[in-house]
Amino acid sequence: MNTKIVIIHEENKRDSLNEAGKVIRQGGIVAFPTETVYGLGANALDSDAVQRIFIAKGRPQDNPLIVHVANFAIEPYVQNIPEIAKKLMERFWPGPLTLIFNKTDRIPSTTSAGLDTIGLRMPANQLALELIKEANTPIAAPSANRSGRPSPTDVIHCIEDLDGKVDMILGGETSDVGLESTIVDCTTIPPMILRPGGISLEELQEVDPSIIIDPYLTTPLDENIKPKAPGMKYRHYAPKAPMKLIDLGSKTGEGIKVLAKHYSNDHKKVGIIATDETKKNYLYGNVYSIGSRMNLKDVAKNLYDILRQMDSDQMEVILAETFEEKGLGIAIMNRLKKAASYDVITDYDTIEAILSLGN
Ligand code: TXA
Ligand code: MG
Repeated sequence: MNTKIVIIHEENKRDSLNEAGKVIRQGGIVAFPTETVYGLGANALDSDAVQRIFIAKGRPQDNPLIVHVANFAIEPYVQNIPEIAKKLMERFWPGPLTLIFNKTDRIPSTTSAGLDTIGLRMPANQLALELIKEANTPIAAPSANRSGRPSPTDVIHCIEDLDGKVDMILGGETSDVGLESTIVDCTTIPPMILRPGGISLEELQEVDPSIIIDPYLTTPLDENIKPKAPGMKYRHYAPKAPMKLIDLGSKTGEGIKVLAKHYSNDHKKVGIIATDETKKNYLYGNVYSIGSRMNLKDVAKNLYDILRQMDSDQMEVILAETFEEKGLGIAIMNRLKKAASYDVITDYDTIEAILSLGN
């Protein structure tokens, strides 16, 4: 398939959005910027169009899509709007918050992956909003990456993954938030966070203190507990190299140093995810700073880009520092843990064992 790639600027904006809107109306698929990550959109009400997204991404069929809207008139798509959802929409839309509702028949089961519920979100990015208006229909859009790869925060990432597989790629600004939206299930009491993201638990609890986090997210190693968001079970956001998170408190730097030396001596290309505060401490390995610990917004914004850079620099082992699980730190750690397949080193004995046994 020939993919039309358009980098949007003031002069070509109207015509390009007009064309992209038409592609969506006619059943095509278009990658576009949002403030969280780039999305791959299709008419949410057109089952065949939505099916094309699954094929282009190589996405498992049991993983439902989020539907993007440009106004608050969501009644045609949802059975009812609980009071809590009204408050959350008022406070956080447009923005990085997806709300789960019981769906109506207007939403085909391809979009909801057979569930009776649907996730809705109003993005804050202006191009995204204008595209939805031009298309004149809600747009179903997962992140615009091939399934399993880190999510795209720049048009370059979309081109890497989807050139030749989609009708159109629209390039706008890099994603400001850099992590996907927070998903809150409003069909349950209490409402539950199914995926941490751009809006923190603390911000949500200002609106309703009863909101809790899906227990799956805090006990990820228990195979008997299943996530309510089907997508959370996949090894996602992952770089190609095996990755370890090192969380040894004051000894974290030392642990990373000895492991980096160990793997370097083993002739492996080691990538280290450090911070502005610590990047100068490491002598072995290729050091990537993810931003300052004082500014978690920057850390969130840089995360996926750094994972992709490590792929293109062909790192063979990745060692990463960790962040306190508070505020945006909850979402950042969720993505890092997934990227590392939950390989978190929390005691020095594990490091000693790696050094003596080698692995
Ligand atoms: O920020 C975002 O949400 C981005 C941008 C493009 O808007 N989209 C995004 O979509 O992250 P995706 O497909 O990569 O992730 C959607 C997640 C999956 O984990 C999926 O299982 C969950 O949302 N989800 C969607 N509908 C759901 C539903 N009805 N119930 C539970 N989880 C749902
Ligand atoms: Mg995704």
